[in-house]
This record gives sequence, C-alpha cells and structure tokens, in this order.
Amino acid sequence: MPQASECIDSRQRTGQPWNDMHPEALESMSSLRGDERGKGSMLSKASQVFILTDENIAPFWLPEVEYWLGCENAIEIVIRPGEQHKNLQTVQRIWKTLMKHHADRNALLINLGGGTITDLGGFAASTYKRGIKFINVPTTLLGMIDASIGGKTGIDFGGAKNQIGTFAEAEEVIVDPVFLETLPTRELLSGLSEILKCGFIADSNLLNVSLENYQQYIARCGEIKHEIVAQDPTEKGLRKVLNFGHSLGHAIESHCLTTDYPLLHGEAVALGMLGSLWLSVKQLGLNETVLQDFAKQVPMLLSESEIALSEADIEPILGYLVHDKKNKGETMQFVLLEAVGKPVWDVMVDNDTIKRSLEYIINEYGKQ
Ligand SMILES: NC(=O)c1ccc[n+]([C@@H]2O[C@H](COP(=O)([O-])OP(=O)(O)OC[C@H]3O[C@@H](n4cnc5c(N)ncnc54)[C@H](O)[C@@H]3O)[C@@H](O)[C@H]2O)c1
Ligand SMILES: [Zn+2]
Repeated sequence: MPQASECIDSRQRTGQPWNDMHPEALESMSSLRGDERGKGSMLSKASQVFILTDENIAPFWLPEVEYWLGCENAIEIVIRPGEQHKNLQTVQRIWKTLMKHHADRNALLINLGGGTITDLGGFAASTYKRGIKFINVPTTLLGMIDASIGGKTGIDFGGAKNQIGTFAEAEEVIVDPVFLETLPTRELLSGLSEILKCGFIADSNLLNVSLENYQQYIARCGEIKHEIVAQDPTEKGLRKVLNFGHSLGHAIESHCLTTDYPLLHGEAVALGMLGSLWLSVKQLGLNETVLQDFAKQVPMLLSESEIALSEADIEPILGYLVHDKKNKGETMQFVLLEAVGKPVWDVMVDNDTIKRSLEYIINEYGKQ
C-alpha cells in the first residue's frame, strides 16, 4: 500500500477521485473533501478553533484536515493514544489548554480521531463553560458508524468504562472513509463487530460484512444509528438496542484492560454479542442457527487479538457487570434478540444464567 502522505499529496494536487469506495455509500456521506475548504464559513463563525487528535493520527492527517477545513491556524491539542487516556486527567489537559488560550463560549473544538477522541473531546467541549460547539471527524471505522454519532460523550472513571459523561450532539459529523487507509487491520476488525451489531438489531444484510466489503455498509450503519437516536435521544427505551452485546462486552473489555491481553472495544463486543446470542437462544427462543453462524465469524473478528481468557476471569467480569449502567440495583438487564432485526430491551437475566453465558464464551474462544 502506498504511504498515506503520498496518497494525500497526489489526490490533493491532481483532483483525482478520492477513493475506491462504493458510490452509494459515498453519496450519503458528508465528505470532508467533497467541498474542499467549504467548511470554512462555519469555522469562521467561531471565535477560535481548537483541534483535538492523538499522536498516531496527527502525523498522517492533522495538516491535511486543517487544510481541507481551512483552519491552518487552529490550536492543536495532541494527546497520547488509547483507551487508557480516556480519563479525567486528559480532560483537564484539554480544559487547561482552552483556558490558557482564553477560549470563550463561541470557541469550536474539532475532534479528529476514533471513539476515544470523540468521546473525550465531546465531553470536554460539552462541559467547558457549560458547553462549546464541537465537530466530530471520525478516523476509525467504529467511529464512523457508531461513536461519533448520537451525542453520547464520556470518560472512564474508577476503573470502569464510560462512568462519567454527557449527552451532547456534535454540530456536525464529517465522515470520510479516506482515513481508513492508515487504520491498522485490528482496528478495522473492531469496527466490523459494530457493523454486525447493526445487522443483528436492524438489518440482516449487514451480517454479510467482511474485510473485503465493509465500505459499502458504513452509510447504512450511520443511518440506523441516526434513526434510533432520533426516536430516543436520551435512551429511555428503544436506544438501548444499540447496546446489544455491550453489557457483557464492556465487562469483558474493562476486565481485560487490567490484564496483559487487553481487547479492543469491538473485539470485546464480539464476545459480548456471542454471549448475548447464547442468552437469546435460551431466553427468547432465538433460532440457534443465528448463534452458530456468528460463532463462525468470531475467529475472524478476534484474529488479530491475543485472547487468553480462562474460568478464573469469570468472577472479575461478573464484578464489572454490576457497574454497568444498564443494571438496576441487584437485577441484570440485557438487550436480547427474538430474531434478527427484532431486539428486545430490559430483559431480566439471573446471575446463574449470565455466568453460564460467560462459560460458553470462554469455552468457545478463551483458549485460542
Ligand atoms: N459515544 C458513543 O456512542 C460510543 C460508541 C461506541 C464506542 N465508543 C467508544 O469509542 C472508543 C473506541 O473507539 P475506536 O475503536 O474508534 O478506537 P480509538 O479511538 O481508541 O482508536 C484506536 C487506535 O487507532 C488509532 N487511529 C485512529 N484513527 C486512525 C487512523 N485513521 N490511522 C491510524 N491510526 C488511527 C488511534 O490512535 C488508536 O491508537 C471506546 O472508548 C468506546 O467506549 C463510544
Ligand atoms: Zn460499541
């Protein structure tokens, strides 16, 4: 593959087609380069422009994005990459930079990155001076189809994920698949899990996704998330279906972060969906072939991880489930499926059955 900087240079200067994406998928996206520098007017309304990104993304994309958006004078905030930095210390650093530059309530923050950056930046922006505007420019597949959309912001706290956060909508979400050219395969696979999640809850066509064809599904996933969030912005009911696989997934992810074999969000969600499909078969009579078909896809989704779960991990994972916001008091609530495209939320599952679902996951994939 050519180096990213070569691609950008030749495209920027020659006006060649930007990428090899599926045309229908591209049409419905707000492309960053479609009206090159056209976002300038929106940015010019801001008293100051700040751009938040991380050390992995900055060398590939920061100058290009500043050029495309026409904001070369933006104040750059470049943080260390990874979930372990999605915390209060990093938010404080962002707040301090905003204060140092006397950012007022008309300042604008551009979040250029994956879900870590858009969650963090959205949270910092929505709390600074009771809220300044922000734009999300997702650079991961997971960010494009999920994290950058829908107004949930937040940070990890007290050793558990997303414990502190706000609901705050980005002023705009600019999706451009060009960023995926530099994304490592493992991160792409993590995004594939979320495409499959959209498939399970809303559209069986998405269950055919693979590393070869994922581009054509990006727009459809964004559409599904938008539709669901529009009907239930603050997660009173329907929006909970977007958490399919996430109760178990977050608990597995939180636990693995404390070990030598951390899993990516999408990888943990893949395992969470496996457990949730198993629970769906047991509790809601889901057709077992759905579980079996997905079980065949999981090795591909985890192929770049070094998964090493054992029976000893079950208790700590159960401990994290208690922290999950989706559990009320002592009871555990799950999003399960009656059928593909027919999710049911607030399904009560007893502790023993949850434990058995974790045993199923670990027996299937723990020792690979
Ligand atoms: N707010 C929401 O609705 C929501 C939904 C889903 C997930 N999330 C959150 O999103 C986070 C995960 O996000 P993610 O999977 O996008 O991971 P990420 O943001 O941590 O990025 C993954 C890695 O890829 C690198 N990277 C990003 N874009 C790149 C690019 N184009 N080229 C090269 N490297 C690149 C990053 O530096 C990082 O090391 C989790 O914290 C999760 O809780 C939030
Ligand atoms: Zn997710």
